[in-house]
Amino acid sequence: MNILVIGSGGREHAVIKSIKKNPAVETVYCLPGNGGIAADATCVNIGAKDIDGIVKFASENKIDYAVVTPDDPLVLGCVDALTAVGIPCFGPDKKAAIIEGSKAFSKDLMKKYGIPTAAYEIFDDMDKAIAYLQNKDMPIVIKADGLALGKGVIIAQNLAEAEEAVRSMMADKVFGASGDHVVIEEFLTGPEVSVLAFTDGKTLVPMVSSMDHKRAHDNDEGLNTGGMGTVAPNPYYTADIADVCMETIFLPTMNAMNAEGRTFKGCLYFGLMLTPKGPKVIEYNCRFGDPETQVVLPLLESDLLTVMQAVTNETLADVEVKFATDQSACCVIMASAGYPQSYEKGYEITIPAEVADSVYVAGAAIKDGKLVNSGGRVLGVTSVADTLPEAIAASYAKVEKIHFDNAFCRKDIGQRALKAMKE
Ligand code: AMP
Ligand code: GLY
Repeated sequence: MNILVIGSGGREHAVIKSIKKNPAVETVYCLPGNGGIAADATCVNIGAKDIDGIVKFASENKIDYAVVTPDDPLVLGCVDALTAVGIPCFGPDKKAAIIEGSKAFSKDLMKKYGIPTAAYEIFDDMDKAIAYLQNKDMPIVIKADGLALGKGVIIAQNLAEAEEAVRSMMADKVFGASGDHVVIEEFLTGPEVSVLAFTDGKTLVPMVSSMDHKRAHDNDEGLNTGGMGTVAPNPYYTADIADVCMETIFLPTMNAMNAEGRTFKGCLYFGLMLTPKGPKVIEYNCRFGDPETQVVLPLLESDLLTVMQAVTNETLADVEVKFATDQSACCVIMASAGYPQSYEKGYEITIPAEVADSVYVAGAAIKDGKLVNSGGRVLGVTSVADTLPEAIAASYAKVEKIHFDNAFCRKDIGQRALKAMKE
């Protein structure tokens, strides 16, 4: 089989390594991929948002199955376009991808179907938004409506910050058209859990839970990033909480999308907060999380491609989706100093062969035959072990063996989870 994966991050690298375990897979193409992914797939420089280019490539290269991983192409209708030319795909169509593409849509969906989430109001008028803020409890959360590369969320500590956030989104358009509508919502507290789920619209199978580390520096300090590391499973996510989530959030969401005529097929990502009043949805994503995927897929014992094809064929109920529930995984991201702000590119990356299997490359290119960093988040290093402390230690031992100038990583990935396990 010829497989096509759209995207260029560590998540795509993890998906590719997992798919390649299926013996029927002959060739994997990745558009655009990156210099590190090139070790495991044929990368072709067609951008993930170039839907026409992707469809042309897929048609010309006898692609049997395509996996569309990032939010942009999903929201732009990449799955619709590939399906229209007869290529089966993993990922939601455009109508369903709106669950991530518009926060206003997802908040209204939750309200309509009684799915627990933070109380909120949506505004398209800046003066009304600012008037609304005047007697509200602080902190308060301001979100740009559309995709904003994970940066469109501001937690304002006081009224001045909240007003500034609204102005920057609605008047200064710091997130472009995403700021035409803003969602203002209640600030929730509690541990955060990421749960990815396979669903074909009839059946929903949650994957092992995980914990992201979004801040750039140790002790959750510094700016928000695309994720500096993950562990799985998430110790806060007990079997009882999982049952509550299935009943009050996961299945109601699948059913709500069906009722709206927007059946979701693919990987639905639930960003949850375990509040004192029970689990609530912070956000939905219409795709695998990054770097959650880098700890979740290494724990998958079933064949990924088989599960994905079952989602496409709406036969998910018939396949086994088994995770190594007695094991733990830890992924440590190595970034270039200065990330998520300015950072330097072009430093040579050396990855010894003995750790290469554990590495998912996110931001690297090949230059003069050498692998060099081309992004802020450069790569992730994952280990699976019988216990979480062993997985953490193994990942940091591998990090020691990988080199590029100006590399940095958080030293405390997994420590919050270990603390929770002792509580
Ligand atoms: P999002 O892009 O919606 O995932 O938001 C980014 C981060 O902002 C989340 O991971 C939370 O840590 C935080 N956040 C978002 N919404 C809320 C909320 N209503 N209350 C508290 N924190 C939030
Ligand atoms: N790790 C969060 C995300 O993928 O959106």
